[in-house]
Amino acid sequence: MAPASVFEQVIEYSSRADPYRLYGQLREAPVSRQPDGSYVVSTYREIVALLHDPRVSSDGRNLAYVPANQPAPEEGNSQAHSFIRLDPPEHDRIRRLVMYHFGPPHSAGKIDGMRPMMAEIISGLVGGLADRQHADIVEDIAHPFPVIVISQLLGVPREDETRFRAWADTVVESFGPGEGEQAERQRARTDALAALREYLSELAEARRERPADDLISGLVTYSGPEGQLSPDEVLGAATLLLIAGHETTVNLIANGVLTLLRHPGVLERLKREPELVIRTVEELLRYEPPVHFPALRAALDDITIAGTTIPRGAPIVLALASGSRDPASIPDPEHFDPDRNPNQHLGFGGGIHYCFGAPLARIETQLALTEIFSRLENPRLVADPPPYRASAGLRGPRNLQIEFDRVLPRASR
Ligand code: HEM
Repeated sequence: MAPASVFEQVIEYSSRADPYRLYGQLREAPVSRQPDGSYVVSTYREIVALLHDPRVSSDGRNLAYVPANQPAPEEGNSQAHSFIRLDPPEHDRIRRLVMYHFGPPHSAGKIDGMRPMMAEIISGLVGGLADRQHADIVEDIAHPFPVIVISQLLGVPREDETRFRAWADTVVESFGPGEGEQAERQRARTDALAALREYLSELAEARRERPADDLISGLVTYSGPEGQLSPDEVLGAATLLLIAGHETTVNLIANGVLTLLRHPGVLERLKREPELVIRTVEELLRYEPPVHFPALRAALDDITIAGTTIPRGAPIVLALASGSRDPASIPDPEHFDPDRNPNQHLGFGGGIHYCFGAPLARIETQLALTEIFSRLENPRLVADPPPYRASAGLRGPRNLQIEFDRVLPRASR
C-alpha cells in the first residue's frame, strides 16, 4: 500500500491534537494533488488568491467528482444549498437580503445591542457551576451559550433549544473530512437537516401570520429593491445561521480556554488588562481556529497557481489553518502572541464568503473568556491534550475538563 500523503495523515484521527507540524510539511508544496484527485492548497498567499478568484466555486454541483472522504453535495435539496454553497449572483442577493436584518448599514448596532442579553446568559452559565470544583467547558459553557444566543436571535422558543442542538450537532459532525463510514454520516446528516427544515418551516409560517421582533420574522416579511426571499431561501438561510454559528463558536471558546491555560503569562495579563481579550480572540482565530477546511471548492476552469494546474471540475481543499501559520506571510507564526499587529488570519475565511457572523462570534467569545477567567478561581486542565471530535475540518475538543477552587460571585469582579 502506498504511504499516506501528508494531507491523509492530517485527516487521521491521531493527528487531531496537533495537526500543525504536518501543516509545515504540507506547505512545502503550496498546492498538492491527493490520491483521491482533490487539490489541497496550504499556503497563505495561494489560499487568499483562490478565495478571491471567480473561477473558484463553492457550489458542490460544479464538482466533477466528490473525494471519498467528503460529504456529497445534496442533490436537488435547495435548502441545503444555503448561500454558503452558492455562487454569485444568487449568493450575493441572498446574503444581502439576510444581512439587512443582521448588521450595517440597515441594522447597524443590532449585534452590539445584544451584548447585555449575551452577558446575562454567559453569567448564568458560569454561575451554574457555583457548587462545583470541576467542569466540562464544552458541555457546561461553550456548547449551550451560542445555541441559546442564535436561537434567541432567530426567534426559536426556549423550550425547543435542546432539539435544535441535537440536530445541529448531527449536521455539523458530518462536515468536512473525518472518520467514520461515509454513507452513515451522510444519512444522519440528511435526517437531521430534514427535521430542522420541518421545524423552521412551521416557525416561519407562524411568523408570517404574526410577525415578532426576531430575525425569522424579518426574513419572511421584508421586501426590498432586490425582492423577497422565497420560503425555501428563508429556510436555507435560517438553517445556515444556526449551523454555521453553532459548533464553530463552541470550538473557539473551548480552544480559547485550552490555549490560555497553556499560556499562563497571557492569562495573567488578561486579568490585569481586560481589553486584551479583543486581541486574544483575534489571535485565537489565527493560532487555534475552529475551521481548518471550509466547504470544498470546485474549479470552474483550469486554474494554474504556484506552478500547478488544477483542472476544471476538480475539488479544492483550502487549508485555512495551515495558511494562518504560514511563515512566508506571518512572522513567527508558531508563537501565540495576542500583541501581533497586524494580525492577518484566515479564521473567518475571506472573499465573498467571509464569515457572516464574525461580529457575533467575536463578542460571544470575548464575553465567554472574560466571564470564565474572571470568575473561576485557579482554573487548571485535567487532561492535556483533551480528547478531540472526529472532524478534521471543524476541529475542537470533544470535552475539556477543568478543575478550579471556587466560583467567584459576579459582583466581586
Ligand atoms: C468562532 C466562530 C466562527 C467561525 C470560526 C466561523 C468561520 C467561518 C468561515 C471560515 C467561513 C467561510 C466559509 C467558506 O468560505 O466556505 C464562514 C462563513 C459563514 N459563517 Fe461563520 N464562523 C463563526 C461563527 C459564525 C456565526 C456566529 C454565524 C451566524 C450567526 C456564522 C455564519 C456564517 C455564514 C452564514 C457563513 C457563510 C457566508 C457566505 O457564504 O457568504 N458564523 N464562517
